[in-house]
Amino acid sequence: MHKPTKSQEELAELFRAELTTGVGRSLKHESADKHVSGEAVYIDDRLEFPNQLHVYARLSDRAHARILKIDTAPCYAIPGVAIAITSKDVPGQLDIGPVLPGDPLLAEDIVQYVGQIVVAVAADSLETARKAAMAAIIEYEDLEPVLDVVEALRNKHFVLDSHQHKRGDSAAALASAPHRLQGSLHIGGQEHFYLETQISSVMPAEDGGMIVYTSTQNPTEVQKLVAEVLGVPMHKIVIDMRRMGGGFGGKETQAAAPACLCAVIARLTGRPTKMRLPRVDDMQITGKRHPFYVEYDVGFDDDGLLHGIRIELAGNCGYSPDLSGAIVDRAMFHADNAYYLGDAEINGHRCKTNLASNTAYRGFGGPQGMVAIEEIMDAVARRLGKDPLAVRKLNYYGKDERNVTHYYQTVEHNLMAEMTAELEASADYAERREAIRAFNAQSPYLKKGLALTPVKFGISFTSSFLNQGGALVHVYTDGSIHLNHGGTEMGQGLNTKVAQVVAEVFQVDISRIQITATNTDKVPNTSPTAASSGADLNGKAAQNAAETIKQRLVEFASRHFGIGPEEVEFRNGQVRARERYLSFEELIQLAYFGQVSLSSTGFYRTPKIYYDRSLARGRPFYYFAYGAACTEVIVDTLTGEYKMLRADILHDVGDSLNPAIDIGQVEGAFVQGMGWLTTEELVWNAKGKLMTSGPASYKIPAVADMPLDMRVKLVENRKNPEQTVFHSKAVGEPPFMLGISAWCAIKDAVASLGDYRVQPRIDAPATPERVLWGVEQMRTLKQQAVAEPQATVVA
Ligand code: MTE
Ligand code: HPA
Ligand code: CA
Repeated sequence: MHKPTKSQEELAELFRAELTTGVGRSLKHESADKHVSGEAVYIDDRLEFPNQLHVYARLSDRAHARILKIDTAPCYAIPGVAIAITSKDVPGQLDIGPVLPGDPLLAEDIVQYVGQIVVAVAADSLETARKAAMAAIIEYEDLEPVLDVVEALRNKHFVLDSHQHKRGDSAAALASAPHRLQGSLHIGGQEHFYLETQISSVMPAEDGGMIVYTSTQNPTEVQKLVAEVLGVPMHKIVIDMRRMGGGFGGKETQAAAPACLCAVIARLTGRPTKMRLPRVDDMQITGKRHPFYVEYDVGFDDDGLLHGIRIELAGNCGYSPDLSGAIVDRAMFHADNAYYLGDAEINGHRCKTNLASNTAYRGFGGPQGMVAIEEIMDAVARRLGKDPLAVRKLNYYGKDERNVTHYYQTVEHNLMAEMTAELEASADYAERREAIRAFNAQSPYLKKGLALTPVKFGISFTSSFLNQGGALVHVYTDGSIHLNHGGTEMGQGLNTKVAQVVAEVFQVDISRIQITATNTDKVPNTSPTAASSGADLNGKAAQNAAETIKQRLVEFASRHFGIGPEEVEFRNGQVRARERYLSFEELIQLAYFGQVSLSSTGFYRTPKIYYDRSLARGRPFYYFAYGAACTEVIVDTLTGEYKMLRADILHDVGDSLNPAIDIGQVEGAFVQGMGWLTTEELVWNAKGKLMTSGPASYKIPAVADMPLDMRVKLVENRKNPEQTVFHSKAVGEPPFMLGISAWCAIKDAVASLGDYRVQPRIDAPATPERVLWGVEQMRTLKQQAVAEPQATVVA
């Protein structure tokens, strides 16, 4: 047996020393060193299996067409080719739609977008597979495609039925309001641009099973879909996912296709099989953030207080439902952002177009709903000649009935007003507003803009059943701890946070805890790591597992030492049993010999939430996360180019589990949100082909696009009043919407050309071209010298 190496005095001293472990500390990301040195292993870094095949997909070059003929014979003429498969070769179910059918693994009779996979070829090398795939002969008969979201909306060409949130009589409120404005807006989509493209590597196993290494946010769903395409039970399939090189929602459903193709080929050939999408193919095959088209009708009074509103939110879903039901729902749930809308009618439409199937992306429709209402806030302010911030603050959720959302959830513990006040002061909003007016008055071409916008984001999957998490904790006889949970690591620091939670429970150093790959045979039936819920759900589940073991240890120690359970205390890697001190590993040794189980699963389900979709009422969100950003921009009105000068951010994460990681999330999310609304433009040609299919034409923000001066602060002393994991709040998605302030700042700069009385129409993304069109609108208006300024100019 392990011999105590330290004296009682030494142990007692360690026990009492200042705490160095647990939650709330800025520990570095568990893989930080490996990320920087290049030692972190991604799927493409794994040693290849002997005899491994590589898969390349031949894609449809038609947006909508009937397949007349597929001839794969020419593929086999190329040496090294093992197999070329079409839809007919799939042994089990062909459709891999995540919620509803509509996504054939390989196109069957019809192709529905440019980029759809028609043939998959496996060969000894990727280059051989690519040559062979291009040799397949496919003949089509073209059908009429629908490529325009507005056309789809007008023709009710939908992938799913429309849905409505309704409170009060918006038509009457609009009719009687002192002012009324109508307008429309296009909001662009966004490519995920994860650094690691979609990839899977599959190894055939015993009894018809498969081990699947895959870069997915959703191991259980890939397990289910691989089982279905093979026609075997889920227990034959094991998914292993150590880390992703980014996911951002793009691997919530759409990681499944490469995994399923590999599994089918591995089944048919008996060989290990890998598929990694080249960037250009990944961008054509996989869906993106949904572009939205928005129409609104808003009624308000002289102060800018909203009386009534109607908003039509039309999501461009692409060819299939994928997650568009929940995504458009979330857009509707966030069409209020932080504001009480008055009598409201929000309609959500899911438009079907012949494009890749759009999918989850950080914020999951929420950002699009929030951009819509922020556009409306700006439009109302311009019509009244008020500072947009004043109109925003006036409309914040307030007391009594002004504190209930249009889906009838009460907004509790609302931090919006106090956070806005804090940021307004720390960012010197009022002084800078004056300084910017003065600057613009004397600067003929360079114009500055400023905007302070709020974020209120609902936390929980809106499909309530998904709000569950699982974990598995083993304590080994040397006192080291092995931890698994149902979440996936994509760079966001989830593993670090969950390990901190377990370290906190056992009061041991985090170095004692090893997390390995997320694995479906360790933690089953998991929800995707999405909806910012990773730490909330899996952190709680891991806490539950660790507490179960700790409880057993306390009971054992109490029996063993003949003391009360309340006399057993864990601290700093030590344990106090009344007046006796022992190290954590000594207690573990004793407990093992005492035949105590040192392993436990853990489970968690979110309390309080429910949503009745048929009534469009409920409490879909356990709580809200809040944030505010104030961004200043300078715009060159001769070219439309701009530069973010400064961004001040105040963000709410409750009691932070790890402030360093949370600040990293806030910074990254802001920049990603800013990129979406400024430079990231998706362009399709008239035939539905994506023309921006690589970094040369699709511009994500680079280091030089960062605001010159960026100041990020977490709200202090505001623990989450709900019983979340150590009273923290989710951080993954909410700060993405802070980027809206950059877009509003650009509009503010352009609005200065019309004395802030006219809202320029600048659709998102506000590329330099669109900004220049906005400038042109203002010049035209000035020339026309319109007597009554129009709040929204239709370009
Ligand atoms: N951070 C990094 N570095 N990489 C990512 O892919 N995804 C974001 C966010 N932060 C992402 C990220 C998205 S879309 C979500 S939903 C959350 O992380 C998921 O992780 P969490 O729930 O553990 O916060
Ligand atoms: N948010 C994010 N991802 C999801 C959701 C949601 O509400 N529902 C299903 N996947
Ligand atoms: Ca993508």
